[in-house]
Amino acid sequence: MTDLNFITVEWDADLAIVTIDRQDKLNALNADVVRELGEVFSGLQDDDNVLGVLLTGAGTKAFVAGADIGELAQMDSISGVRVSRDGQDVFRSIERFPKPVLAAVGGYALGGGCELALACHMRIASDRARFGLPEVGLGIIPGYGGTIRLARLVGLGRAIELTLTGDMVDAERAHAIGLVSKVTAPEELMDEAKALLRKVTSKGPVAIRLALESMYRALDTSTAEALDYESTLFGLLASTEDMREGMQAFLEKRKADFHGR
Ligand code: COA
Repeated sequence: MTDLNFITVEWDADLAIVTIDRQDKLNALNADVVRELGEVFSGLQDDDNVLGVLLTGAGTKAFVAGADIGELAQMDSISGVRVSRDGQDVFRSIERFPKPVLAAVGGYALGGGCELALACHMRIASDRARFGLPEVGLGIIPGYGGTIRLARLVGLGRAIELTLTGDMVDAERAHAIGLVSKVTAPEELMDEAKALLRKVTSKGPVAIRLALESMYRALDTSTAEALDYESTLFGLLASTEDMREGMQAFLEKRKADFHGR
């Protein structure tokens, strides 16, 4: 990992806490932040000490207030495609990350910030969070996967309404439409996020990885292919130490001690 200017990585036991820190611009994603985000996730992917990643924004005001509008204002149609692709690639690497990634949203998650939260596997918000895709008000569309992922999460009708109006929704509404799993008080956000992520990372790591793999693959294939794939992964898990440990622990009425093998 090269030097990071806009992202910090801390460890809480086997969780990596990744914080986007560009507070003077409400953590807006310029090209450097996007590149650093890609480098951080690529570095964490092969780190056996990391069981899960918690992604958040520094400060109390924003998770991420979008792509950097100052940079976007300079783009032409060639660089526009590149800007979109670069963001999409990094967000896709987060979506395909083999360990659970949870977004903890304590403030504005707008435009690219909302799209970033959508690329994570789960989202939890404080009651100060605001979500929205305001891009059409700037004469553009969401370009980091938002036109695809929002509809998958909250349904096409709601996604169309949010995308075409550019309206923000508060945390309570985000929870009601399935955009976030839980809403907390601001001071409890990180503890609640860690507790949720730890619940996931206490399960069999290979099972978690393959559950994500099966669910995301199913979005891109027919039901028949997805079912075939699910059976293959199910069979694969039968060869793991984790499966033997998980079932043995149940039968012996004790907590499983998984090793991700
Ligand atoms: N890109 C670049 N800079 C941004 C930004 C973005 N997406 N969002 C906020 N900023 C900057 C502001 O320009 C301001 O910088 P300055 O102090 O140098 O002028 C700083 O962050 C603070 O933002 P400000 O607008 O003063 O805060 P606010 O509390 O009045 O409003 C928002 C907060 C989030 C409502 C407002 O900043 C906003 O609408 N941001 C843009 C959201 C957006 O359209 N995102 C999608 C982009 S594709």
